[in-house]
Amino acid sequence: MTLQRIELAQFRSWPRLDLDLDARPLAIFGPNGSGKTNILEAASMLAPGRGFRAAPAPEQARKGVEAGWRIRAGLQDHLIETQAAPAQSRVVVIDDKSVPQTALARLLRVIWLVPAMDRLWTEAPEGRRRYLDRVTLSLMPDHADLALTYEKAMRERNRLLRDQVSDPGWYRALEARMAEAGAALTRNRLTALERIDAAQEGGRDFPAARLTLLPGEGHADDTDPASIADRMAAMRARDMAAGRSLTGPHRADLGAHWGPEDMPAALSSTGEQKALLLSLILANARALSDQPVLLLLDEVAAHLDADRRAALYDRIAAMPAQSLLTGTGPELFEAFGTRARALSVTRDGSRSQAAWTD
Ligand SMILES: Nc1ncnc2c1ncn2[C@@H]1O[C@H](COP(=O)(O)OP(=O)(O)O)[C@@H](O)[C@H]1O
Ligand SMILES: [Mg+2]
Repeated sequence: MTLQRIELAQFRSWPRLDLDLDARPLAIFGPNGSGKTNILEAASMLAPGRGFRAAPAPEQARKGVEAGWRIRAGLQDHLIETQAAPAQSRVVVIDDKSVPQTALARLLRVIWLVPAMDRLWTEAPEGRRRYLDRVTLSLMPDHADLALTYEKAMRERNRLLRDQVSDPGWYRALEARMAEAGAALTRNRLTALERIDAAQEGGRDFPAARLTLLPGEGHADDTDPASIADRMAAMRARDMAAGRSLTGPHRADLGAHWGPEDMPAALSSTGEQKALLLSLILANARALSDQPVLLLLDEVAAHLDADRRAALYDRIAAMPAQSLLTGTGPELFEAFGTRARALSVTRDGSRSQAAWTD
């Protein structure tokens, strides 16, 4: 199943863009600010959520035009449309039927690697947790509902904590709900890590990462509901002082080590960290090979030497997933040869425009 066409209207710097695609990777090149990342961001709106910039819908509408934005995509015999009217949130229409955003995930899995993820291993755990949950969701669609159930119960527990409620009766049912959903969440995360582990190819250019799920608190067993519930009960006084829940699967972290020295990712060079992430992204796409996958790789060539770049393109070309890549110049994509198509992007005043170069 391939994405044959993608059309943008009034999306960020693009008044219009109509792209006919085929199964080959698409290399988008152009100077800074020409609108390359905007195309990838639009493609990321073919997944549920707010896209990889996590921007509110009104911000994505082209400045100075009071029309809102629209994205259309042809995926085999399906027509996907998503748009946001001025000052409105976005809506999704598939084959002329209004559907919830989550319906998008049944047609296409979108996986991205963007420069903001360069610091994933060195920054706070939140980013890694969000990444882990995105990977888990791509492999196990029930993950979103579990996360919602957990968060809803946690919000109610946090309200009790802030209101200084000390009666255990009020907490027990909420903590039991958090414990059930939290244990299932943790099992999903562990299964996802196993599947990513199994799908990593390894090798010199993109070494396999050894991934671990780190519980937020001590050596807790977050796959066991009773263990989560007991810990929450024991933590009530401390949580009340903090005004929020300080223990549980919402505090978990993702660890990554690699190589013969089992080097932590955070201590590796920028290029090595990028290579590790690429190994994971490619493994994620491979683990989903029975489904349509769209890979968005923004500025991936930036930290890679020429050999690694060529190795990356070999792997991308060998995968059933469709990919969109960006870079500042065509020379970055030379190693693709005729295996990829190339689109040149320029900026004329406030408008981006595109031209095929093959
Ligand atoms: N809502 C918007 N309306 C019009 N232009 C926008 C909007 N949001 C961002 N831009 C413009 O898009 C440009 C950035 O495009 P981007 O795709 O990130 O560039 P690059 O080619 O470097 O990846 C910036 O010049 C910015 O001014
Ligand atoms: Mg960019």
